[in-house]
This record gives sequence, C-alpha cells and structure tokens, in this order.
Amino acid sequence: MAEAAVGGDPEHARETGGGSDVSTVSAAAPAEIGLRCEVDGEIATVTLDRPDKRNAQTFATWSALARIGDTLPERVRVVVVRGEGPSFSAGIDLRMFTPEGVPGQESFASAAALGDTELERLIAEAQRGFLWLRRPEIVSIAAVQGHAIGAGFQLALACDLRVVADDVKFCMKEPALGLVPDLTGTKPLADIVGVPRAIEMCLTARVVGAEEAVRLGLAEIAVPAGELGQTTRDLAAALLATDHAAATATKRLLRAAPGRTLEEQAAAERAEQVARIRALFAGS
Ligand code: ACO
Repeated sequence: MAEAAVGGDPEHARETGGGSDVSTVSAAAPAEIGLRCEVDGEIATVTLDRPDKRNAQTFATWSALARIGDTLPERVRVVVVRGEGPSFSAGIDLRMFTPEGVPGQESFASAAALGDTELERLIAEAQRGFLWLRRPEIVSIAAVQGHAIGAGFQLALACDLRVVADDVKFCMKEPALGLVPDLTGTKPLADIVGVPRAIEMCLTARVVGAEEAVRLGLAEIAVPAGELGQTTRDLAAALLATDHAAATATKRLLRAAPGRTLEEQAAAERAEQVARIRALFAGS
C-alpha cells in the first residue's frame, strides 16, 4: 500500500491508474488538510489524519477531498473513508469561527465579506469534496468510530454505506451553531431517516448512538470498536466479488430510484438491462 492523492495531479493519477496494483500520487500537505489517501488495487482508503484535533476539517480538507475524487484511479471500485484516533471527525475546525481563522484559509468572518456569488462558489467547492463519493462506479463506505459531528456526520452521510463502532456518536450540530448543514448531508439524512426524524435530530443536536443508528438505517452494521477495520475490509471484499459493470448499473438505478415514478424506474431498469444483456451475450 502506498501514499496517494492529497492534491495529486490528475495526469499522474491517470497514468498510475491502469497498471500496477499499488499507485503513488504524492504531494506535501499542510497540517490543516489532515488527510491522506492510499490506493491498493481496487480499494482506496481516505483517512482523516489529524487525531490530536479529532480530525477537525477545514476548507483545505474539503478541497483535498475533491482532488482525491478528481484524481482517483479508474480501477478503484471501493472507497473507504475512515478517521485516525478516537473520533471519526469532530466536524469543522472551530478556529473557522474565530476572527483569526485557520492560517491561509477563509474564516467565516472573511467569507462573510464575500459577495453572494463568491460565497456560494466557496461552499460549492467544499461540497465537491463530498459529492464524488456517490459516483456509480464506486461504492463508498464510511468506517465510523467515536464522534462524527457536523461535517464529520455529513462526510459519513456522503458515503453509500456506513459501518460503525459501538461507541459511535453522530450529531448534526450546525443549527446549534447558527448554521445549516451544507456539506450535502441534509438529503441523505432526510432520505434515510425521514423528514420528521431529521428535523428532530438536527434541531436538537442530540447524539445518535450505534444501536439507534442501525435501527434508523444510518448504519448498515455496528460492531465492537476493535472489529471496525476487519468488518469494513470484509464488506469491501464482498462488494468487489460482484461484476463491476453490473454493480455500477445497479447502483445507478438505486441512487436514482427515490426521484422517479415506478414507470420511470421500470423504463430505467429496461435500459440498463438491455446494455447488460448486450455486454454479456453479444456474439454468443
Ligand atoms: N475544531 C478544532 N479543534 C478541535 C475540534 C474542532 N471541531 N474538536 C476537537 N478539537 C481539539 C480540541 O481543541 C483539543 O485540542 P488541544 O488538545 O490542543 O486542546 C483536541 O482536539 C482534543 O479535543 P478534546 O475535546 O480534548 O477531545 P475529547 O475526545 O474529550 O472530545 C469532542 C471530543 C466531543 C469531539 C470535543 O472535542 C468537541 O466537542 N469538539 C467540538 C465539536 C464541534 O462543535 N464541532 C463543530 C460541528 S459543526 C460543523 O462541523 C459545521
């Protein structure tokens, strides 16, 4: 296994993407990024790596996440997102609420001075770090232990699947700080738990533990903390056992299903299946 993209250039990622089992796309990262990505064969592991600050996230973290998505080798089929240390992520770096902010980055005070268009562009760039995790060609798994607060909760929600340790503590804290959750978390949360439960969770900022997370569908499975890594690896292996093209088409169908009528979805199933049958049986 080797270091991979944190700000790596796309050309290099494409060059290394098709060949050897392990690729290396390296770049020095300032401490505030707190992120590393290792690619090993068909699995990429993105690790929030600032455990002394409970993997607090900054704009630089989100830009680096977006660049990982931009430069992900084509052969990657499973992306695991995990956090080093006792907590998955304590959310946004609270220095961003101070006038000084995080060195070299926007604080909320400096961002507030931007025009609406620039401010929305800044948020859109942050959201880009989360959106790519839904791509049909990959399955993303969040392996979550300890606290997953605010941006940490939203990062877990950006993934297709969540494996949690029994000490997990999900909390959507943004409204309590005067903000809205804007890192693409509101849709998956409302889709998974329903609008009333999502309102209750967000507007009370209460902690959701492992048992409730599984019951609500926020996590696929909860395991003892010591088994989080192995359970995630087992799930990745099971996902990789399925034909890639069929898995991609099926995920595309399932992701789009909530926004379609039954008739539209049936038509989409037909279209995907025609392509599958042609690919599987052409010339036989
Ligand atoms: N931003 C910056 N630094 C942080 C953050 C954060 N979000 N969370 C923790 N840290 C730092 C602490 O300041 C401390 O640093 P220090 O050792 O230099 O003093 C270190 O990480 C460890 O933090 P502790 O509080 O000692 O760790 P503990 O395990 O006891 O508690 C917990 C963890 C519950 C996550 C706590 O740190 C906390 O409540 N953090 C703030 C959570 C928060 O409000 N996040 C914003 C959510 S909203 C959003 O994400 C948009």
